[in-house]
Amino acid sequence: MYPKRTDGKRCALACASLLAAIGTLLMFFAPWFYTIVTNFALSLTSKPTFNLWQKTPMPLYLEFYMFNWTNPEEVHKRNVKPHFQEIGPFVFRETKEKVNITWNQNNTITFNHLRYWYFEESKSCCKLSTQITTINAIALIASHMIENWSYVIRKGFDISLSALSAKLWKVTTVDEILFSGYEDALINLARSMPQLQSLSMPDYDKFGWFYQRNGSYSYDGTFNMEYSGPNFGNTREWQYNDYLSYYDKKGECNTVRGSAGEFFSPNRQRDEIGFFSPDICRYVPLTYQDDKDIDGTTGYKYVMGDSWLDNGTKVPENRCYCGDFCTPYGALNISACKHNAPGFVSQPHFYDADPYYLDKISGLNPTKEKHQMFMVIEPETGIPLHVEARLQLNLLVKPIKSIR
Ligand SMILES: *[C@@H]1O[C@H](CO)[C@@H](O)[C@H](O)[C@H]1NC(C)=O
Ligand SMILES: *[C@@H]1O[C@H](CO)[C@@H](O)[C@H](O)[C@H]1NC(C)=O
Ligand SMILES: *[C@@H]1O[C@H](CO)[C@@H](O)[C@H](O)[C@H]1NC(C)=O
Ligand SMILES: *[C@@H]1O[C@H](CO)[C@@H](O)[C@H](O)[C@H]1NC(C)=O
Ligand SMILES: *[C@@H]1O[C@H](CO)[C@@H](O)[C@H](O)[C@H]1NC(C)=O
Ligand SMILES: *[C@@H]1O[C@H](CO)[C@@H](O)[C@H](O)[C@H]1NC(C)=O
Ligand SMILES: *[C@@H]1O[C@H](CO)[C@@H](O)[C@H](O)[C@H]1NC(C)=O
Repeated sequence: MYPKRTDGKRCALACASLLAAIGTLLMFFAPWFYTIVTNFALSLTSKPTFNLWQKTPMPLYLEFYMFNWTNPEEVHKRNVKPHFQEIGPFVFRETKEKVNITWNQNNTITFNHLRYWYFEESKSCCKLSTQITTINAIALIASHMIENWSYVIRKGFDISLSALSAKLWKVTTVDEILFSGYEDALINLARSMPQLQSLSMPDYDKFGWFYQRNGSYSYDGTFNMEYSGPNFGNTREWQYNDYLSYYDKKGECNTVRGSAGEFFSPNRQRDEIGFFSPDICRYVPLTYQDDKDIDGTTGYKYVMGDSWLDNGTKVPENRCYCGDFCTPYGALNISACKHNAPGFVSQPHFYDADPYYLDKISGLNPTKEKHQMFMVIEPETGIPLHVEARLQLNLLVKPIKSIR
């Protein structure tokens, strides 16, 4: 069983009876939603210019696929796996622009991202008012945060949850989960607990994954990028720092590095490539797979390989991303970057991940064509020809002592 650290034989009996006592309250990674951004090169002949970089002229489309939890009432039942049904796409047109641009003396440029999203109902499967059942993220995140606090606090929180009839799941609209946020008595409760105020909870009055992000120029953070030379396009600093504070100090996990997203160094060899993602606060390495022809131009195709999916078993440098425990191959712990919410990122439908993830749930069906993340790059210029950025957000559901 993962990731309970048990004390060998001494625990065997005690743990077995404890497990029996909590019934089959499973530990599983619940898929919440995944996103796809498809991007094609503007024109193969045009060199990257400042104007194109500053404001993306072509609309980008961000597609969301939600997971509806269809059997939440049965979560305590033996031999019933949580079933998740994909609903989507919900398509948003994205406009992207760089603002607060400063050219520095040291070959770098400092800027922020300003992004807006507009719902495109005609391209979507359904309305934003579609109701779906998902994990009660607020209850889950708050419970997770206080798991190591004293019994009194945990029990008090449990009683409050019962008083509010809060359950492990919640029915909300897609709009609320994503952009508009939903109000929840739990947010006020969590904020009124002095013990929770010391935790780094975002000071929001509502909860939604993209809440307050539409039209925000500060959400993605401030980038410092090289604007010429062999490392053209590389991120040097993020949030005025070349070093992060989220990961284990041993190793390179905290180093800010990789492309800022648009440009990769020119004259590429068939070696690793990577970019810095403010969404998950880390460097994302991609592995060369093969050559791919795009409209007569040969590009190098890069995919998520061991250097990104592995937990330190095959690629020892990845150990510093683990936190206290490593998860099985294929999902990354982004808790440190998300105010300690138990968030984990994988490819959609746990494509290419350890079968561990799919064994615990049902309804998912990974296929390469739909779920593999990849990027094809023109090797001489380093310009991406075709990008399919596909990522799934999952929440870890596990029993927490004294919280029913
Ligand atoms: C989502 O699942 C619930 C059961 O949990 C069901 O009642 C509802 O109709 C489903 N929603 C959609 C949009 O299929
Ligand atoms: C940064 O850009 C935004 C959007 O254009 C603007 O509202 C804001 O005042 C700018 N901030 C600074 C510090 O210049
Ligand atoms: C480059 O100079 C700017 C402005 O002085 C500074 O903010 C930034 O940290 C410098 N970047 C690097 C990589 O040293
Ligand atoms: C984002 O903000 C723009 C401008 O305020 C608005 O028109 C648009 O509907 C918003 N998008 C979402 C998804 O709320
Ligand atoms: C609580 O303690 C356990 C065991 O040390 C640890 O694995 C877990 O990450 C801690 N939880 C939090 C939210 O800090
Ligand atoms: C995830 O990372 C956090 C913060 O580093 C850590 O406390 C937690 O134990 C990790 N969780 C798992 C399941 O690895
Ligand atoms: C790393 O992943 C592998 C494959 O999924 C798994 O067998 C192993 O237990 C994981 N390592 C740790 C330290 O959790």
